[in-house]
Amino acid sequence: MEASSRSATFSVPYEIAAVRPLRQTTVSERYDALQAAHFNTELIPQDLIYVDLSTDSGVSSLSTNQLALVAAANYAEPGMGLAAEGSRSFARLLEQAKRIFGFPYVVCTTQGRAAERIWAKVNIRKGSVVAGNMLFPSTRSHIEMNGATLIDIVRDDAHNLTSLEPFKGNVDCDRLAAVIAEHGPGNVSCIYVELALNACGGHPVSLANLKKVHAVAAAHKIPLFLDASRIIENSYLIKQREAGYQDRAILEIIQATCALADACTMSALKDFLVSSGGFILTRDEAAYRKAAMQCFLDGAQLPGNGMDLLAAALKDIFAAESYIAHRVGQIDYLWGRLNGNVPLVNPAGGHAVFIDLNAFVPHLAPEQFPAESLATFIYQISGVRVSKGPPMAASQAAKGINILRLAVPARRYRRGHLEDVAEAFLSAYCHRNEIRGLKRIEDPARSKYEPAHFTV
Ligand code: F0G
Repeated sequence: MEASSRSATFSVPYEIAAVRPLRQTTVSERYDALQAAHFNTELIPQDLIYVDLSTDSGVSSLSTNQLALVAAANYAEPGMGLAAEGSRSFARLLEQAKRIFGFPYVVCTTQGRAAERIWAKVNIRKGSVVAGNMLFPSTRSHIEMNGATLIDIVRDDAHNLTSLEPFKGNVDCDRLAAVIAEHGPGNVSCIYVELALNACGGHPVSLANLKKVHAVAAAHKIPLFLDASRIIENSYLIKQREAGYQDRAILEIIQATCALADACTMSALKDFLVSSGGFILTRDEAAYRKAAMQCFLDGAQLPGNGMDLLAAALKDIFAAESYIAHRVGQIDYLWGRLNGNVPLVNPAGGHAVFIDLNAFVPHLAPEQFPAESLATFIYQISGVRVSKGPPMAASQAAKGINILRLAVPARRYRRGHLEDVAEAFLSAYCHRNEIRGLKRIEDPARSKYEPAHFTV
């Protein structure tokens, strides 16, 4: 055979360099663990979990490039100070961030919500409105805490769990125009668009839609901000689904996306493979200066070692696009294993598979906590953890939507793990009539923000 005619498939773009053993628990051990955790899977000790799909945030595996930085302990860098920009770690991170996202000004924070808190303080005016597409609860709170009203401008598709429409994260531009006409452009602090929309299925926003939003924003001189925490997955799904982008590099799609925005806030815990870190990226020098000072005052600066881990991750990710294909491919695989057998949110997202609870456990009323009930059932039969996750948007609650997220951490699990997860959900669906509801234990001594306690 000619060497040139041979083709090889590199379907897994990394090998395992360090492992953490997982303990095999028994059904009765798991039942005891559930009882001790008051039937709230969030409260089960990590050592008793087999596959953990409660979040993809801050739980991805480190690469050898990152581990080398940890092991060498060569990171005693002063990231935290008024002159954070002077540190070598910040310089290394800035180089990567500018190369990838193309914004001139970068503030690095401890987390996404810290970036949002600071950016909202700098940009959101009291009494104004913000137009957003079903934003994440932390983004929502920071907007509201600064005295603005958030108005949802997501398209109705976002509430349709079964349609295969490829870009259900898109903004409804007619609704956006109506919000601007009603409140006046001067009273709209910003348009805030979340990519790979977490609330309703990890659905992407198309570049065509973002271009339209950008045109509306520019025409009215309203800033356009992105929650770009999952920009890599959004860009990958654009490459897969949007006409005209199949031959473009993911990096080019990321840059084309960022070029349409005035600023981004970002958690680095998801797509950027670190356990702490976030960004504010902007073109506005004055706002950048305010944000950098606010970050210092809030104690929200990422220490130098965190910056180095993040810079190393950014290098790793874009060294080969096969990493991104593999990452999203894992979600697609799990979705494909369940689709047709278990009621799912369509189509597959970039970071998680979502179950339609109303169809999975129709015999459970909302006051019987269907998400938590299914989560306890799944844990008991398999050791797999899923949890209720972030609260739903008001528009979802109003429509009676009830979904459960299976968030897949990046680079952490192998296909065998996902097979076991699929088997657990397929089996749970066959035995769905055995899934019993839960009752919430009201305890006045516990805050309503603490994880809830339940009983069977
Ligand atoms: N934006 C999105 C879209 C998110 O999903 C999150 C966090 C944040 C912002 C806040 O970032 O955690 O770094 O402060 N999502 C996690 C999750 C908690 O499980 O989806 P953070």
